[in-house]
Amino acid sequence: MTSPVTFASYGLGPIGQGIAKLALDRGHRMVAAIDVDPEKVGRDTGTLLGAGPNGVSITADPAVALARKPDVVLHCTSSRLPQVTPQILGCVEAGARVISTCEELSFPWRDHADEARRIDAAAKARSVTVVGVGVNPGFVMDLLPLVITGLCREVRGIKVTRVVDASKRRLPLQRKVGAGMTREEFDAGVKTGKIGHVGLAESIAMTAGALGWNVDDISETIEPVLKGSEVKGLHQVAVGSGGGRALITLDLTMEVGASTPHDTIVIDGDPPLTVTAAGGVHGDVATWAVAVNAIGRVMTAAPGLATVSDLPPFHP
Ligand SMILES: NC(=O)c1ccc[n+]([C@@H]2O[C@H](COP(=O)([O-])OP(=O)(O)OC[C@H]3O[C@@H](n4cnc5c(N)ncnc54)[C@H](OP(=O)(O)O)[C@@H]3O)[C@@H](O)[C@H]2O)c1
Repeated sequence: MTSPVTFASYGLGPIGQGIAKLALDRGHRMVAAIDVDPEKVGRDTGTLLGAGPNGVSITADPAVALARKPDVVLHCTSSRLPQVTPQILGCVEAGARVISTCEELSFPWRDHADEARRIDAAAKARSVTVVGVGVNPGFVMDLLPLVITGLCREVRGIKVTRVVDASKRRLPLQRKVGAGMTREEFDAGVKTGKIGHVGLAESIAMTAGALGWNVDDISETIEPVLKGSEVKGLHQVAVGSGGGRALITLDLTMEVGASTPHDTIVIDGDPPLTVTAAGGVHGDVATWAVAVNAIGRVMTAAPGLATVSDLPPFHP
C-alpha cells in the first residue's frame, strides 16, 4: 500500500474529479485545488466531489495553491503539451512531483522535444519526477503491448485494435469524437484539431523507443463513423513504419453505441500472441486508477521526466 501523500488537483473536469475522489479514498490528503472554470472557482472541493465540505476551496491562481506545498500535483487540464508546459514547470518549481493526463506528455520526445527537455531539466534541478499517464495513451495501446512482448523471443510487428462505446464515456470525449455532428462539421473539426484522439503517435513512439525499433514515419488517418448522415464517432488509424514496412499499427474506433467494444493486441512474433480484453477497458475509470496508482512510483522515482514504460503504474 502506498503511504499517504499530500496532493493538489490541477484541473477538475470529469477526469480530475474522478482522480481526486480515488486519491482521497486511498487516504491521500488534498491540500489545494486549481481550476479556471468560473463555475468551479471558489467552490469547496469536497462539495464539488459530492462529499461533505473539506475546507479546500478551488483557486484559479496556481501560485496560491502551490504555496501549500503538495507532494504531488494530479494534473488534468489539457491534451496539448505546449499549452500545459508552463503549468507543469510551475508545479516543478514549487517542488511538487507531477502526474499528468496530458496526452502529449506521455511520450513528448518525438514531437515536443524542446518542451520535454525543459521539463526534464527543471525536474532534475528540483529533484522531482514528472510523468504523463492515462489509459490511451499510457496503457492499453502502448504499455500493455510492451509488457506482452516480454513473452516473445522475437517480435516483428504489433497491431492494437481498440473499440470504445463512447456513450459510456464522459461528455468531453463524446465531443472529441464528433458524436452528433454532420460530416461537414466533423471534417472541419479534424482540420482545426478539435476532433480527433490525441496520443496515437505518442503511443507508437513510446513503444518503438522501448523496443529499440527505428520508426522513421508515423502516418495517421481520421474518418467519421456515420449512421445515415449523422456522425456517431470516429475511426482513427496510426501506422508506424520503419525500413519501408508497417511495424506498429494502432486502430481506434470511438463510437456512440459501438456494438462490440474490446481491446485486442496482436503480436506478430515468436510465439505469436493475441490478447483481448472483452468489453474493452473503461477509459475514464482506468485513467482515474492509473493516475492514482502512479503516486507511489513517482514518490520514489529518479528525478526528471519519465514515461510509463519507465514507471509502470501497477496497483499498489
Ligand atoms: N491519456 C489518457 O488516457 C487520458 C484519458 C482521459 C483524459 N485525458 C485528458 O485529460 C484531460 C482532462 O480530461 P477532462 O475530460 O476532465 O477534461 P475537461 O472536461 O476539459 O476538464 C479540464 C478542466 O481543467 C480546467 N482547465 C483548463 N485549463 C486550465 C488551466 N490553465 N488552469 C486550471 N484549470 C484549467 C478546465 O476549465 P474550463 O472548462 O473552464 O476550460 C476544466 O475544468 C484532457 O486533456 C483529456 O484529454 C487523457
